[in-house]
Amino acid sequence: MTESLDGVFYITTPIYYVNDRPHIGHGYCTVLADVLARYHRLFGQETYFLTGTDEHGQKVQEAATKRGMTPQEHADDMHRHFKDLWPTLHVSNDDFIRTTEPRHTRVVQKALQQLWDKGLIYRGEYEGFYSPRVEKFFTEDELVDGKCPETGGEVNRIQEANYFFKMSLYQDALIKHINENPDFIRPESRKNEVLGFLKKPLQDLCISRPKARLSWGIPLPFDPDFVTYVWFDALLNYCSAIGLYSDDQRFEKLWSGAHHLIGKDILTTHSVYWTTMLMALEIPLPKHIIAHGWWLIDRSKMSKSLGNVVDPMAMKDKYGVDSLRYFLMREMVVGLDADFSEEAFLKRHNFDLANDLGNLANRLAKFIARSMGGVVPTLAEGTEFDDDLRQMAQELPAKVRQLILELKVDAAVEAIMNLVRRVNRYVAETEPFKVIKTDPAKAGTAVYNALEGLRFALNLLSPVMPGKCDELLGAIGAPPVVSRLEDLKWGDLKAGAAVNLPEAPFPRHELPKVEEKPKKPETPLIKFDHFAAVDLRVGTVLTATAVEKSDKLLLLSVDLGEPEPRTVVSGIAKEYSPEAIVGKQFVFVVNLEPRKIFGILSEAMVLAGHDDDGLAIFSPLRPLPAGAKIS
Ligand code: MSP
Repeated sequence: MTESLDGVFYITTPIYYVNDRPHIGHGYCTVLADVLARYHRLFGQETYFLTGTDEHGQKVQEAATKRGMTPQEHADDMHRHFKDLWPTLHVSNDDFIRTTEPRHTRVVQKALQQLWDKGLIYRGEYEGFYSPRVEKFFTEDELVDGKCPETGGEVNRIQEANYFFKMSLYQDALIKHINENPDFIRPESRKNEVLGFLKKPLQDLCISRPKARLSWGIPLPFDPDFVTYVWFDALLNYCSAIGLYSDDQRFEKLWSGAHHLIGKDILTTHSVYWTTMLMALEIPLPKHIIAHGWWLIDRSKMSKSLGNVVDPMAMKDKYGVDSLRYFLMREMVVGLDADFSEEAFLKRHNFDLANDLGNLANRLAKFIARSMGGVVPTLAEGTEFDDDLRQMAQELPAKVRQLILELKVDAAVEAIMNLVRRVNRYVAETEPFKVIKTDPAKAGTAVYNALEGLRFALNLLSPVMPGKCDELLGAIGAPPVVSRLEDLKWGDLKAGAAVNLPEAPFPRHELPKVEEKPKKPETPLIKFDHFAAVDLRVGTVLTATAVEKSDKLLLLSVDLGEPEPRTVVSGIAKEYSPEAIVGKQFVFVVNLEPRKIFGILSEAMVLAGHDDDGLAIFSPLRPLPAGAKIS
């Protein structure tokens, strides 16, 4: 299903925590929002683009304390790393909101007061485990080995009075909305994830923190001893920035076209917390929530402890902002994960930008300077005209528009690059460099058509690479990027305009030398007795079910030749569905100390091998009796 171009296109990014510096994940989300905003402007739609910083909460307070600053001083300093980065990445946001600004805190307090007055917030007792890293509470059952189920980090047991929002009241209405608006949450897989989450009864949401424990937040208007939970505060930025409670007309107009672009990890907060908050506040829901995937480094998550965090500034400084934006948009399919590596980056840069696009512009410009007086040649009457090239160029804007509305940004970029490749082939076929000696008029026509094809491609690619496209259009004597795509007309390139491209627009870069992987440390030899101490047995899986609230774990009942089957909790759900393993035999370690996983006692461990694609479990080549010893 695709989006229409009616009304306003209001696009938001998540507001970023100021406890850390920007990395490539933040860069991607913001550049993607920018690219969408620029395309929608080009499609002639009124567009508004918001980003900002999330400045309250425990993480920020802790980061400030570490630096010996007040949280406000810390936020004033850190928000600059985001705010100042965006212009250098050519991000064209209309506004930048900070949650410490009075225009925001006022709205949060007003919203809280309204819900309190309506009886939708109540005081209660809270007991649970708090993970400061994700600023969320978990029940004991949800913990994994007593640690945070999302990060594996420490959790603190907490029992305290708090305020709760009656989120549970809105469960049915939310399910109905999602079912009635099948593209409300995009892509589809994420919608299903949210519907899956909503199968369990929805709890009320704890929306306060006692000041005694956390002072850095917006005070509750009805109880000054408490501050607002950071997510309740942060989500409201999307409304506070555009005039909720201060400018109704502006608010209603922009809000009617709201699109939230977020990463897949913050889907629940947006699709469940935020939507139910809006329902309670009697504000219509946004048009779409769009969840993108993660940039992985060598297929694993970026993390400070692994030391693999990619700094977008460094990439931009080394290879240029346009190449970086191009790579981010071309490489990732919106909604799926993608692997970030300097090698993949340079391949795209060298093949697509240096070879296909850069070379084309360079060769044409050099030739025009050498043999055509440095100006755009005339389209000579009676010379051959390439209808096929022209048709392809003229059909492309509608195709790109369709792909962008379907959020297929990578495919849109590829379609434009196909035009660039077509122009390259056209130049090879028409051979203006040779023909000029015998038929200058014909060579002029060929060059004119090639420039027109290139001009179409540059206009269409301009939301992705605004800087370079603008520069190159100027260099080939073309008018600046059109302000509306419908103004892009074949033949608008003026003969006689000066062509001047002093240097190759995308210099090639050498691929980084592949460093030899350090050898794995050799495992010390062990005596046979050590090996024999591990009791390995063949087990037959009798039943398998998914473990609630976990996407990794399966709960197995395994026949190990004993009077009773054993319970095994195993992290294989990503690779195996329950149906795929029931009745099959695998290898189990049966004398490991039993371990509680997700609140369930696991009494054996299945053996698996691992590679970049995940894990594979071992199975005997022919059936063996359950409990057969392996040695
Ligand atoms: N402050 C909250 C958002 C509040 S919105 C009302 C927050 N901030 S964050 O700074 O931690 O992360 C912001 C965004 O960065 C998330 O959308 C997250 O998905 C994205 N990314 C973080 N790492 C990422 C990658 N490695 N790849 C792509 N995006 C990822 O959450």
